[in-house]
Amino acid sequence: MKFSTRAIHAGQGADPTTGATIVPIYQTSTYTQDAVGEHKGFDYSRTVNPTRSALEAQLASLEDARFGSAFASGMAATAAVLNTLSAGDHAVVTDDLYGGTYRLFSRVLSRYGIDFTYVDMSDLDAVRAAVKPNTKMFWIETPTNPLLKLIDIEAICALRGQAVVVVDNTFASPYFQQPLSLGADIVVHSTTKYIGGHSDVVGGAALTNDRDLYDVIKFHQNAVGGVPGPHDAWLTMRGAKTLALRMREHARNAQAVAEFLEAHDDVARVYYPGLASHPQHALAKRQMSGFGGMVSFVLTGPQERALDFANRLQYFSLAESLGGVESLICHPARMTHGSIPKEDRERRGVTDGLLRLSVGIEDLDDLLDDLRTALAATPMPAGVS
Ligand SMILES: Cc1ncc(COP(=O)(O)O)c(C=O)c1O
Repeated sequence: MKFSTRAIHAGQGADPTTGATIVPIYQTSTYTQDAVGEHKGFDYSRTVNPTRSALEAQLASLEDARFGSAFASGMAATAAVLNTLSAGDHAVVTDDLYGGTYRLFSRVLSRYGIDFTYVDMSDLDAVRAAVKPNTKMFWIETPTNPLLKLIDIEAICALRGQAVVVVDNTFASPYFQQPLSLGADIVVHSTTKYIGGHSDVVGGAALTNDRDLYDVIKFHQNAVGGVPGPHDAWLTMRGAKTLALRMREHARNAQAVAEFLEAHDDVARVYYPGLASHPQHALAKRQMSGFGGMVSFVLTGPQERALDFANRLQYFSLAESLGGVESLICHPARMTHGSIPKEDRERRGVTDGLLRLSVGIEDLDDLLDDLRTALAATPMPAGVS
């Protein structure tokens, strides 16, 4: 089965009790047993729910994984994956990553004795230098958020030793990047983003081929209980059916937006893996089958100009999150990455002038007109040339 077919059919056979073609929303917390312990495989919905099981099978299939676990959010999925570590373990983490992941690692899990080192993982020497005798995990985001740096998944896997390689594949989506096939052990998603695709549901997932890792993640899912409700699971499953169609449009629009911005005099720098000027364009072509829908850029002039510009757009809503059909703009320093201390943030290149676009699938001409009009209307503040 090819990708688009799996998105529509994997885990989604006709309902065994009614023949319903679409997986029903099993809005139940519990299941009637014939006798104590005699049931149809379902006993309590924190542990297992048929709608959630269908979603888990669909998502596992999209990442070509044997096992899938769905969660109430991307952060809940991340926390479950981190539960494969214990106090005294060390993880090497990409330094340009989602602010909420940084917050979970630095302010929650480090209190439980897990040690994290943040490095630019596009620099393999820096990764090697960060490894310690107790390194048990490499945490990769690629492309990174928000600077769209690429990390070579195969190269990190080659130096992992006994450690587990985890890839947060939220930005690329399984349509454009398949980390397990490149050697990664676990893939994590915020399904809130491209997989759900319509900005109407929060969710997360962890996918793996490793039975032992799956067992630990599954145990945590039930023990801690960060599960999606059946309605959220159903919405995510419905969204994921059109992932291939949407990703092609996101990438087509994003490429055109990136090229437009790069050619504009008011734009100082554009970050998009699909641009020939991206320092890792060759790696992007090797590792991904498309470049995704995220574009970051810096306007000429001071930070106020970037904020002024963001407010003038008509179709790009000023909002957190990404990956929905509608276009969004965000100011990472004050929004998605606000939980990273300013000094750390700036050292990593997330400056106050940086803007991030989630390019939607509206008509490209409308998006380009919107950007063009807002740029023309955004003056340089007085006293700046
Ligand atoms: C790359 C990445 N990973 C994980 C998350 C967290 O996901 P959620 O918001 O669904 O908890 C986000 C959220 O923005 C993200 O961008």
